[in-house]
Amino acid sequence: MAETLIVSSSADKAERYQALLPQIQSLTAGEKDLIANLANTAAALKQTFGFFWVGFYLVKENELVLGPFQGPIACTRIKQGKGVCGMAWQKAQTLIVPDVNEFPGHIACSSESKSEIVVPAFKNGRVFLVLDIDSDKLNDFDHTDAVWLQQLMKMLEPLL
Ligand code: SME
Repeated sequence: MAETLIVSSSADKAERYQALLPQIQSLTAGEKDLIANLANTAAALKQTFGFFWVGFYLVKENELVLGPFQGPIACTRIKQGKGVCGMAWQKAQTLIVPDVNEFPGHIACSSESKSEIVVPAFKNGRVFLVLDIDSDKLNDFDHTDAVWLQQLMKMLEPLL
């Protein structure tokens, strides 16, 4: 297992994702424990991009429950349709929120969070978990993040 990430800090966002994904693949290959793999994935994203908060919420008994994350403490349970995470789960699709204050029902775990992206991952055709990333900058996520993070979730799906 690689123990250091090699991603150039001068590379643009797409180049960083391109360098990062195969490294997450080799970090998670050969490890069947889901929590270990999600924990390293959250850490790798945080380390590469310096996001304010990166983590997973897992669908458990019809709620989202906080999983491995990097960043300040966060709310532990989210109901379907609530907040950005609950809405991404309900719609089974990626949501990009350029300004969280403009999103009706946004759940503010921290007042420092300004923009957010949530990407679901699927098992047997149903949402199994969502990846939630918060930025302390407005409008920090775009189509490039959505495409690469969806690819990352596809890569993790066989491990779910
Ligand atoms: N803001 C999220 C809640 C989770 S925290 O950001 C970590 C939401 O509205 O679903």
